Amino acid sequence: RVVAVIMVGGPTKGTRFRPLSLNVPKPLFPLAGQPMVHHPISACRRIPNLAQIYLIGFYEEREFALYVSSISNELRIPVRYLREDKPHGSAGGLYSFRDYIMEDSPSHIVLLNCDVCSSFPLPDMLEAHKKYGGMGTLLVNKVSAESANQFGELVADPETNELLHYTEKPETFVSDLINCGVYIFTPNIFSAIEDVLKQKKDRANLRRVSSFEALQSATKALPADFVRLDQDILSPLAGKKELYTYQTLDFWEQIKTPGMSLRCSGLYLSQFRRTSPHLLASGDGKRTATIVGDVYIHPSAKVHSTSKIGPNVSISANARVGAGARLINCIILDDVEIMENAVVIHSIVGWKSSIGKWSRVQGEGDHNAKLGITILGEAVDVEDEVVVVNSIVLPNKTLNVSVQEEIIL
Ligand code: GDD
Repeated sequence: RVVAVIMVGGPTKGTRFRPLSLNVPKPLFPLAGQPMVHHPISACRRIPNLAQIYLIGFYEEREFALYVSSISNELRIPVRYLREDKPHGSAGGLYSFRDYIMEDSPSHIVLLNCDVCSSFPLPDMLEAHKKYGGMGTLLVNKVSAESANQFGELVADPETNELLHYTEKPETFVSDLINCGVYIFTPNIFSAIEDVLKQKKDRANLRRVSSFEALQSATKALPADFVRLDQDILSPLAGKKELYTYQTLDFWEQIKTPGMSLRCSGLYLSQFRRTSPHLLASGDGKRTATIVGDVYIHPSAKVHSTSKIGPNVSISANARVGAGARLINCIILDDVEIMENAVVIHSIVGWKSSIGKWSRVQGEGDHNAKLGITILGEAVDVEDEVVVVNSIVLPNKTLNVSVQEEIIL
């Protein structure tokens, strides 16, 4: 049997995701019309003999309660949210719920970061892992040499795929092969984490002997029960025939910023073309809008037949799009109203916002630049004929004059 664990983090994480993480936990922010965490969850469903899916995080329990119960019913697989009282690090969090995870006596544990966008080739990865015969297998990907330092960089044996060397976000370039935050482990991972915890405790005890040193380290040391999967487990175990790599040739991105969430929404929409075409708007009826490329429209949204939507557009629940409106590369969240002849391009429009007649909300479309897309927070009103370009607008603002390259607080 297999148990899947998705690390969702907590409110102190995901700060780069503001203002969109101000009223919904980042893991529940919709990409292609589905909560971010929904995509790894549906990928887990393709794993043979999957017993349970756990989400581990330090958000309040009630923030996930509704989603977890509805997705369990929908997929007919138990999905549970387990709350840490405080952050324990990616490996420490996993370890603190080892009793729950081992309840089903799994032979394998699939561990996923929630903020990555991927086709999650889990069944193939599991097969490869069994062949390698190690304690763990990491999904890895080649990225540009300039961007590699945002990730765990690694060296693998080209023949055996063994992980030979691992450094987390190194200052000097090591390799363009990086850790994707998707793993398969045997239950031995818990002994490996336990060893690290023991070493940390021993070191802490030693330090107590010298009070000067204790004072020095107390200010910068992480708590003794805080264990990071990358630095504390992967780095020391590299080159010991315990860890192996599986390279994805399909899409993979990390989702740390709103700009990347827009790009990843598009990647998931194009994946729907292959996996869930019924979720894509077809626009073939007489009374529907003109649809271009991959578009998701929630069944409760009202989109005028003379509007033109796409490519890469997701429209959430109860949104209204007026006559003659044009939407390209954007995420429109719940209860948004877009009036007649408004234009939205390369933008994310927050919950309950409204965009007036003949107004334009747009970005230049650079997903990595700070102001590369325009983001409107919750309940922002853009009045008629106002133009908003490459800007971030915090919640509850009214814009009655045009703005460009501004952060409106
Ligand atoms: N429950 C819980 N508790 N989750 C946590 C905690 C914690 O204390 N700390 C981090 N996480 C979750 C985050 O929400 C995220 O999903 C995942 O664990 C990894 O987060 P970080 O440890 O902050 O690392 P990162 O995202 O900067 O980088 C990791 O992922 C990259 C791929 O996206 C590293 O593993 C990199 O090597 C890797 O390239």
